[in-house]
Amino acid sequence: MDRSSDLNANEPHVARMYDYYLGGKDHYQVDADAAEMVMEKLPDVRVAAQANRAFIHRATRYLAGEAGVRQFLDIGTGIPTEPNLHQVAQELAPDARVVYVDNDPIVLAHARALMVGTPEGRTEYIQADATRPQEILESARNFLDFSEPIGLSLIALLNFVPGAYEVTATLVDALASGSYLVMTHLTGDFDPVGVAATVEVYRGRGLYCHPRAKSEITQFFDGLELLEPGVVPIHRWRNTVEPGVVPIHPWQDPDEVAKSMDAKIPGYAAVARKP
Ligand SMILES: C[S@@+](CC[C@H](N)C(=O)[O-])C[C@H]1O[C@@H](n2cnc3c(N)ncnc32)[C@H](O)[C@@H]1O
Repeated sequence: MDRSSDLNANEPHVARMYDYYLGGKDHYQVDADAAEMVMEKLPDVRVAAQANRAFIHRATRYLAGEAGVRQFLDIGTGIPTEPNLHQVAQELAPDARVVYVDNDPIVLAHARALMVGTPEGRTEYIQADATRPQEILESARNFLDFSEPIGLSLIALLNFVPGAYEVTATLVDALASGSYLVMTHLTGDFDPVGVAATVEVYRGRGLYCHPRAKSEITQFFDGLELLEPGVVPIHRWRNTVEPGVVPIHPWQDPDEVAKSMDAKIPGYAAVARKP
């Protein structure tokens, strides 16, 4: 089997469309075409993708820094995009262990790039499907100590996963007290028309896609302690200064800038602690 058929260059893939939004090079024409269709419906999807990456960095810095987390399980990792989660975590905590999981063959093809971490820490990659969380847990136990806190990140993933509540509950159940759940999720709350049209682009190509309202996204955190500021638009989660994402100039009112971003970013973010 040649490399292109192995990676299925004839149908768009979620990871490769996301790579196109981020301005990466790891996608095929079929992904670019589908992504361009989304960009017609949601013209700011590239800003949203950047804001999503910036949230990963802020949340990871919080976990590896203030919260003292030393183990990370990132499911739905995507094609490597610098800085990757392990680089952010290991900059603050060189001994941090990071396990990445994705089900897309193109992410597997790039896994080597994800596994170059600090000598003191560890980074691993598991090829697995989020719809089978028990298999992910079984493999992850080879690298992570589940009796100690873990930062579980499900970022821009769950809207692509059937049975997302059960998947999340199974994963969270396996975590020790003091662990964290970090999430972003697609919503139609701000631009219902654009998001509905986007969902049609994905579904029309056989890709599962299910946005949720804020109240539905909040349910993922049942039984957990949501950190301040709760479930908020992605760019609003503890975003003091994020150059390039929310361009805060001295003459601009940060609240006004954040408000102007709300309509552009169709997603919520939150971080919660397992008691
Ligand atoms: C939009 S990308 C997000 C990448 C990264 N988490 C981020 O936020 O920058 C979604 C990722 O989830 C992966 N994914 C989608 N469904 C999955 C599943 N059932 N199991 C594992 N990974 C999945 C895709 O392959 C893709 O890499």
